[in-house]
Formats: sequence, structure tokens, C-alpha cells
Amino acid sequence: MRMAVSFDEKTKKTFTIRKSEEAFNAAKVLAALAETMKKGTSFGAPCLLEIVLAEMVISAVPSIEMVCFVNSGTEACMSVLRLARAYTGKKKIIKFEGCYHGHADPFLVKAGPMYQAGTLSGNPLAMTAGIHTLKQMKEPGTYEYLNKITGELVQGIIDAGKRAGHSICGGYIRGMFGFFSTEGPVYNFADAKKSDATKFAKFYWKMLEDGVYFAPSQFEAGFTSLAHTPEDIQSTIAAAERVFWQI
Ligand SMILES: Cc1ncc(COP(=O)(O)O)c(C=O)c1O
Repeated sequence: MRMAVSFDEKTKKTFTIRKSEEAFNAAKVLAALAETMKKGTSFGAPCLLEIVLAEMVISAVPSIEMVCFVNSGTEACMSVLRLARAYTGKKKIIKFEGCYHGHADPFLVKAGPMYQAGTLSGNPLAMTAGIHTLKQMKEPGTYEYLNKITGELVQGIIDAGKRAGHSICGGYIRGMFGFFSTEGPVYNFADAKKSDATKFAKFYWKMLEDGVYFAPSQFEAGFTSLAHTPEDIQSTIAAAERVFWQI
């Protein structure tokens, strides 16, 4: 390993400097990334790795008690502003001229009429995932497949719910679906609010216990993907059938 020995005039101590490529082993990080990517790159839900990294940050910086990871500095600043306003009851903020805190409106004072930037905006990993997913989506039959499995899923869940005596309705288009604990039809938010949220909560938790992770809110859309097999759809319907009889 190449090292350089330096002498600090102030402390009168010698220390070693390693070349940056030796001090930081990018190969290790890339190998870990490759392993993580195999398990999926985005879930729209919390993951265990957040806890691991948060605990590392907290133990590295003694003044930090809690950590919440978001997508960008802009979002972090927006959230911290909301938190500070709620806690202090104060509305005004101080913005230092010339400092950048993201591209949300309140942070752009004296920044010019248009500004868009972001540390992770258009980041190459996300762009690669997007490009290659869209390329695959262009293959013949993909949307037809999605439409088929999503329709089967929604109809299967509705039928299972009705068999167990529940009010339920739902709808879908290609890879997107939703269902509600109400007779329906649901065309707008007022209709959607008629849904029995308590019943949905019971359904959500029981499904989770049975190994199926739906979005935790009744008002959130669900998505199927090309990775879902017909067997996945049938086992989800079977789980819903078991759960509907229990709630
Ligand atoms: C202090 C501070 N806040 C917010 C941001 C905005 O972060 P992002 O570009 O991830 O939105 C930056 C980015 O440079 C920053 O330095």
C-alpha cells in the first residue's frame, strides 16, 4: 500500500496519508450495491437498511438523536421547516442570501426566477433502471400481460370478499389497481371516503401476517409488475380469501 508520511506543524505529530483510492475501497461499496440491487431497488416503503444506516449516523454524531431519510436535500429542508414551524408555532424563517437549501419555493428567495437542481436528480442508477425497464415494457405483450394479471387479482379479491359477506368494490388499469371496503362504485374522493377504513386496517395486518404486503392506506393505489407470476396472483387471492373470513 502506498503511503505518505506528513508532519503537522501545530500538533508536532506525524501522521500517514493514504491515497484516496486506497483509503476508500469503491469495489467494496459496488459489491454491496450489486447484492442489494438483486433484492430490488425501490419499494415506496421503509426498509431495514434505513435503520442500520440511521444507527450508524447516530453513533457517529452524538448530538443526533433521530434520523429520517428522504430523497433529497430539498425534501429534507422542506420537512425540517414544517417540523420547526409546528414545534415553535412561528411562521417566518431566515434565509441567508446566496445560500442554497434546495429548490422549494421558500428557499429560492433571491435565487432567480427559475432554478432546478438536486444532488440525486437524474442520478445514473435510477436513470439506468428507468431506461432498461421502459425498454422491456416495449416488448410485445407486456401491457396485455399486466392487464390480465391485474384484472385477475382485483376480480379475485372482490369475489373472495363478497363470498365472505363483505361490501367491496375495486378497479384496475394495466399495472395499477385499487379496492375499497364499500359497495361502490367509487368515482371520487367523496365516494372513496365511504370505505370502511377500520376493516381495511384489519385486512392489511392479516394479509401481512399471511405474507402479502399491500400499501398500508386504503387510499393508496397498488401496482403489479412483470415480475409477478400468475402463481403470485393466485396465492394473493387465496390469502385474501383466508383473511376475509377472519375479519
Ligand atoms: C444545505 C443544503 N440544503 C439543501 C440542499 C439541496 O439538496 P438537493 O440538491 O439534494 O435537493 C443542498 C444541496 O446542495 C444543501 O447544501
